[in-house]
Amino acid sequence: MQERLQKILARAGVASRRGAEQVMAEGRVMVNGVTVRELGSKADITTDDVRVDGVRIRVPDRPVYLVLNKPKGTVTTRHDPEGRATVMGLVPSVAGLFPVGRLDVTTEGLLILTNDGAFAERVSHPRYEVPRVYEAKVHRVPDAETLARLHRGVRVEGERLVADRVRVLEAGNNAWLEVTLHEGKRHEVKRLLEAVGHPVSKLRRVAFGPVTIRGLEPGQFRELSPQEVKGLLEARPAPRAEGLSRPAIPRRPRPRPRPPGAKGHRPAPGAPGPEGKTAHPRRPHAGARRDQPRTRTDQAGARAELPRTRGDRSRPGRDPLGPRRPPARPRRNPRH
Ligand code: URA
Repeated sequence: MQERLQKILARAGVASRRGAEQVMAEGRVMVNGVTVRELGSKADITTDDVRVDGVRIRVPDRPVYLVLNKPKGTVTTRHDPEGRATVMGLVPSVAGLFPVGRLDVTTEGLLILTNDGAFAERVSHPRYEVPRVYEAKVHRVPDAETLARLHRGVRVEGERLVADRVRVLEAGNNAWLEVTLHEGKRHEVKRLLEAVGHPVSKLRRVAFGPVTIRGLEPGQFRELSPQEVKGLLEARPAPRAEGLSRPAIPRRPRPRPRPPGAKGHRPAPGAPGPEGKTAHPRRPHAGARRDQPRTRTDQAGARAELPRTRGDRSRPGRDPLGPRRPPARPRRNPRH
């Protein structure tokens, strides 16, 4: 089937559609040996030889959803310009696969990878409040007032960070905490705990919505079950539990809409404003597109065809996920 090249490149994970246009404009795309720059050009990926920077591209033929127990020391990216080990080296070579969200290089634990951009967009967007559960080893033991502050929220570098739920799992000189959040902001757990005087020395994500890393040693992965994929798409906010968890705080009522012309009136999203201007429609986040997950960090060529080697998992007709699935082994006690 003939398809626009931009679409093929986006499906192959080379870039977003807009990024693919740029890649084409730069003269980096060849179809059957001919450089193609025209944006309307089409190709049939099943019969044509489509290359980016000279490397043949492949498009995924089915959506793939993996959960990896990311070990400490690997970088959450498709390609690290500094040449460090990335999470992609731990999972099969699947066209268009990318990590959903990010774990710091020193953080271990649950990381989802997929080639389904719409799924990634849905589950990583804070609006859907998919709960992320972390185990954090912190210096000293937080007292009840500190736990309450975490629940109330803390302002860090102008950003409000808040825990939905915090439990003390172990307490000695230091403590292991279980922290549940739902946003996925950069270094969120470390910044939050540091801000209340309990810097994190170890961090592990143990659950993301209904998915857990139980049974996966660091470095191991498995495919998500259809129930887990469905559960992630239907995830609801974490319950605000009693005790050590965040107390229910009444939300401030939303300001009542004011009539047009009145002081403070703001047109509804999409509605014509004063002078006939249209207010910006609400979007999940600036620049978000269904085919452009915001988590992608590298672009052209990242999922290009690899040279075949013995045991190559990317051979056509062979499920790349089959042979590499690790045996499920019981998890070591993480705190020893
Ligand atoms: N919060 C952090 O501080 N680091 C992570 O890797 C994930 C959440």
